[in-house]
Amino acid sequence: MAKRMIATEFTEEDEKIEGSLRPQLLKDYIGQQKAKANLKVYIDAARERGEALDHVLFFGPPGLGKTTLAGIIANEMGVRLKTTSGPAIEKPGDMAAILNNLQPNDILFIDEIHRLNRQVEEILYPAMEDFAIDIVIGKGAAAKSLRLELPPFTLVGATTRAGMLTAPLRDRFGVINRLEFYTVEELEKIILRSAGVLKVEIEKEGAIELARRSRGTPRLANRLLKRVRDFAQVKYDGRITKQAADFALDLLEVDRLGLDNIDREILLAMIQKFGGRPVGIEAVATTIGEDVGTVEEVYEPYLVQNGLIVRTPRGRQVTDLAYTHLGVKKSV
Ligand code: ADE
Repeated sequence: MAKRMIATEFTEEDEKIEGSLRPQLLKDYIGQQKAKANLKVYIDAARERGEALDHVLFFGPPGLGKTTLAGIIANEMGVRLKTTSGPAIEKPGDMAAILNNLQPNDILFIDEIHRLNRQVEEILYPAMEDFAIDIVIGKGAAAKSLRLELPPFTLVGATTRAGMLTAPLRDRFGVINRLEFYTVEELEKIILRSAGVLKVEIEKEGAIELARRSRGTPRLANRLLKRVRDFAQVKYDGRITKQAADFALDLLEVDRLGLDNIDREILLAMIQKFGGRPVGIEAVATTIGEDVGTVEEVYEPYLVQNGLIVRTPRGRQVTDLAYTHLGVKKSV
């Protein structure tokens, strides 16, 4: 399927910018109060005991801070961070090598952990539970299993789809945190902090407008901040005012609720192609030519959170708010 570029999509460059704006310590991390408070206790306790932190799983939509939190945990624990991702580890031997190279109490961060293949995942079970890996040497009747001891370490897993983790893997995490969309106030603080790091002048109203349109997602807020900064510089006097933010965000086709073209296509398809009746997510995704997983993980959660879609036992359904927001009259 051909990829469309839209304003709210993330590129490699965004990841780099994001890196420079990422808070390094818990005290600088804004939002996710519940996850933060819990982590603080577990980190303090593990540090006091001089032990590795228990394995931690973060789940939730993309861009909410899973990678950032993994980095913060490593900094707070004063240990090294090794980062990889589910699809990057193809063979059990690759996983074994990564584990074997860890030092005591290191953090191993595996992004998109739901995409590990089964054989690779099975290496993780004894590694997480007993800090050991079982290696089979030889074939057939002569095959022997050898147990290799590992240093204690912490696995930090991140996934957009907790439902896709196998039970044995999920059960081996001692701490499971669901990350939530950020409030406008939290995003405003993040934007002001990032503007400070980027040395851009920004007015409170400009920051609020950006926050409103960042669909609850700091990664998007930081990305839009960079784009708006460019418009403010070229079309205005460099300061991000509400007017400059409105102008840029309208051009970027990010609307007042932070919806982009694909969000709107989803809602319009549900109204125009399915008559506003409950419909399966697969049918919606096929109609607009998007991947089902992407619609389910990236788009739907925000639309549900903002009351534009409801989940019913018979499928997803658009709400009256969706009609109002799109300016479409409901046919009766
Ligand atoms: N930058 C990106 N996410 C952040 C957060 N949660 N707090 C502070 N700065 C951030």
